Amino acid sequence: MNGFRIGYGEDAHALAPGRRLVIDSSPVGTVAHSDGDVLLHALSDALLAAYAMGDIGQYFPPSNPNYRGLDSRVILQTVLQRLADQVGEFRILNLSAVVVLDQPRLGPTRRDIQRQVAGELGIDVSRVGVTFKTSEGMAPDFIQARATVLLHTE
Ligand code: C5P
Ligand code: MG
Repeated sequence: MNGFRIGYGEDAHALAPGRRLVIDSSPVGTVAHSDGDVLLHALSDALLAAYAMGDIGQYFPPSNPNYRGLDSRVILQTVLQRLADQVGEFRILNLSAVVVLDQPRLGPTRRDIQRQVAGELGIDVSRVGVTFKTSEGMAPDFIQARATVLLHTE
């Protein structure tokens, strides 16, 4: 397992009021089985994919009512622990993520989003790239996140 690995993940949800969107930085939320944080879900899948360990649906089946409303941070931390169990000590070199969303504009909260994700991963903010795109009005009720990670094990 030693050397570099990349991982890629995606997530998408319909928008709904009153639920979380991208960690704690927006008033708009999504309809989803767990708490619907698309960015952390895409990131969690990317981390698993880097080591061909499946995806979060296997660890947290949507059919299981226990996982309704589950905090995305818990999902991410569980994934990090599974990785450590399976591959040993690993480093996350950087993360590059895209959030596609028409409204609200997330640019003003970019630094906050970066800080929160960096905190969850235990890495420096300078290693967390987050970009935003609109759908150009083609999908106003929709949010999507894509995430790529680069990892290294000794
Ligand atoms: O998708 P588009 O090219 O129109 O995005 C233009 C700009 O709008 C980018 O700088 C992007 O960071 C910003 N943006 C944003 N919040 C969004 C979508 C895009 O701040 N929800
Ligand atoms: Mg554009």
